Amino acid sequence: MSQIEVRSLAKVFRVAERRAGLAGAFRGLVDRRIREVHALAGVDFDVERGELVGYIGPNGAGKSTTIKILAGILTPTGGTCTVDGLTPWRDRRRHAARIGVVFGQRTQLWWDLPVIESFELLQRVYRVPAPVFQRNRDRMVELMRLGPLLDTPVRQLSLGQRMRADLAAALLHGPKLLFLDEPTIGLDAAAKLAMRDFVRTLNREEGVTVVLTTHDMDDIEALCERIMVIGQGQILIDGGIDDLRRRVGNSRVLIVDLEDTVSVAALEDGLRGVGTRDVRVTGRRARIDFDAGVIAPAALIARVTSRFEVQDLFVEHPPIEHTVAELYAEHGEGEA
Ligand SMILES: Nc1ncnc2c1ncn2[C@@H]1O[C@H](COP(=O)(O)OP(=O)(O)O)[C@@H](O)[C@H]1O
Ligand SMILES: [Mg+2]
Repeated sequence: MSQIEVRSLAKVFRVAERRAGLAGAFRGLVDRRIREVHALAGVDFDVERGELVGYIGPNGAGKSTTIKILAGILTPTGGTCTVDGLTPWRDRRRHAARIGVVFGQRTQLWWDLPVIESFELLQRVYRVPAPVFQRNRDRMVELMRLGPLLDTPVRQLSLGQRMRADLAAALLHGPKLLFLDEPTIGLDAAAKLAMRDFVRTLNREEGVTVVLTTHDMDDIEALCERIMVIGQGQILIDGGIDDLRRRVGNSRVLIVDLEDTVSVAALEDGLRGVGTRDVRVTGRRARIDFDAGVIAPAALIARVTSRFEVQDLFVEHPPIEHTVAELYAEHGEGEA
């Protein structure tokens, strides 16, 4: 049996909608409609022990809803889900003792307390035996370099420090399964790298299974061998980064450093009839998006060099976020 098994998982939120413009005593009395939001519309996946899975999708796609159901915080309206054989929302207590959860936009630490006191409170909340707590606490403090911060009230931590403390807090009871919802959101570059290091270490060295939602494709490229893409409440793709790239085919970018500045119009003119997709120019650098199935890279390069004075050029795969944006566009998602 897989560690996580999700079958036909559905979640419908019922939201009371008030008509705009009504105020005061009429509010809530007149024209109060219930709108249904189908946050999850039949989600299926398995996660094996020791996997590190990236879960991505545009805003509102259903990522956090999935994580909350997996964590036992929300009850689905349809389908089934087991984690280590337990149903998260039915076996809440036993389930909570086995998992760690971190929501990047929220802290589970006490704002006014020093970090170490939050940890001690969590020990009591989760009833972690003292020796287990001490061992995990010391390991986490070392791994996350929290030593100098332990006596600092949470409110005085930087966001990066606070995320490290939150991650440590989620692991004090030694869970073998970790859910991370946007753990790098708002972090600066250094803090993101540190966060990725911790997650990688936990996964590789401690065998902790990780399900990670993120907007940051660099997180995905740095960490995840497997990606699940969700759009409008359904899994669109489940596979490796290469599968994702293959799925959207032959997109390439030709980057050209020109001798002189050239306008977009002049470039488009020079490439007329070739079948390129998009041309952008910044200073002397042009970026030409094209489909290698429509025009071979060599043919495009020949055309460009025959029309323009070129210093240098190279062909790239588009950044993974472009690939994902194309995928969303294909499925009618507005936002990338
Ligand atoms: N508590 C809630 N009440 C009503 N609608 C909700 C609630 N939570 C989420 N939604 C809606 O469900 C959809 C999925 O939300 P969410 O899972 O937060 O998406 P994501 O994390 O991928 O951005 C969105 O349309 C969102 O507005
Ligand atoms: Mg979310």
